[in-house]
Amino acid sequence: MLFIGAQAADDLAALDPNRLQIVQGHFPDHQALVARGYHVAPEVSGHFDLAIVRLPRAKAEARARIADAADRVAPGGTIWIDGQKTNGVDAILKDVRALAPVDEVISKAHGKIFRITVPQGSWLPLGWTAVPQEVAPGFVTRPGVFSADGVDPGSRMLADHLPDRLPTRVVDLGAGWGWLAAQALARPGITELHLVEADHAALESARGNVTDPRARFHWADARDFRLPEPVNGVIMNPPFHEGRQADPRLGGSFIATAARLLTGAGRLWMVANRHLPYEAVLAQHFGQVTEIGGDTRFKVIEATGAGKGAANPQRKGMRR
Ligand SMILES: C[S@@+](CC[C@H](N)C(=O)[O-])C[C@H]1O[C@@H](n2cnc3c(N)ncnc32)[C@H](O)[C@@H]1O
Repeated sequence: MLFIGAQAADDLAALDPNRLQIVQGHFPDHQALVARGYHVAPEVSGHFDLAIVRLPRAKAEARARIADAADRVAPGGTIWIDGQKTNGVDAILKDVRALAPVDEVISKAHGKIFRITVPQGSWLPLGWTAVPQEVAPGFVTRPGVFSADGVDPGSRMLADHLPDRLPTRVVDLGAGWGWLAAQALARPGITELHLVEADHAALESARGNVTDPRARFHWADARDFRLPEPVNGVIMNPPFHEGRQADPRLGGSFIATAARLLTGAGRLWMVANRHLPYEAVLAQHFGQVTEIGGDTRFKVIEATGAGKGAANPQRKGMRR
């Protein structure tokens, strides 16, 4: 059995772990499933009698997952497609009905799961297969990655506010498909730039987009990312969603990681949506925090003095 998109919190008790191959490219989910004893890979390989496809929100990625399953299950085999209404399961069901026999549809709560018996021959339109898309000169993305259709305006604003010369050792937390990292590398100063990204597909895109030998790629969870030596610069456009839920705690953890990675004199440059309340967590981890740019939508922040914020025990009780 192949399960594309199983997540850390899923109840998989009905599936025999010895006969199950999970595909999960989001590092925290991947690690949690490995810890539960499952076989987990970041990308699909192998051949299977049965596949389960969890639909993601992005339509192109949903189609690509179905195409991946269709490539791996022989005619006569079974594909179950599982999706929430909010992720467009009804539209996908309608599309699939026109292409293959749908034997069973189960609706429950806000979702649907339906079964296809894989027909002979190629049955899916070619356009369903994931193809990298060039969205800016020299930059390709894959379906489903953050800002897959072009450069994120927040990242563009941050790039515009980076200093003319950057520190030597820099980390980009949540580096996506590498556009911001490439802008940083285009400025003088950097000898080593670490791109840290949880989404395997995004990081693979970044590897192709950022071919500079100073780049180092880490498929990792930024929240507990460590390096053997401290760095003197961090850049980031942190995520603020876990699934559909806006959760500024995620960005807060990125700020804590930045402070942990930096020397006291090192600097963080970050961009965030203006409404996100990062001020308290920044003050907790950094001695000096300055808004260096922005507009009604975004704020660009520079922070330094890692370890000299309110969280530092030596400063406890001090006036701020
Ligand atoms: C707002 S995007 C910025 C992407 C990129 N810097 C850019 O300019 O396009 C945030 C990125 O953080 C990644 N991300 C989300 N959770 C993460 C985590 N726990 N660890 C590392 N990266 C994460 C997302 O996959 C996404 O690519």
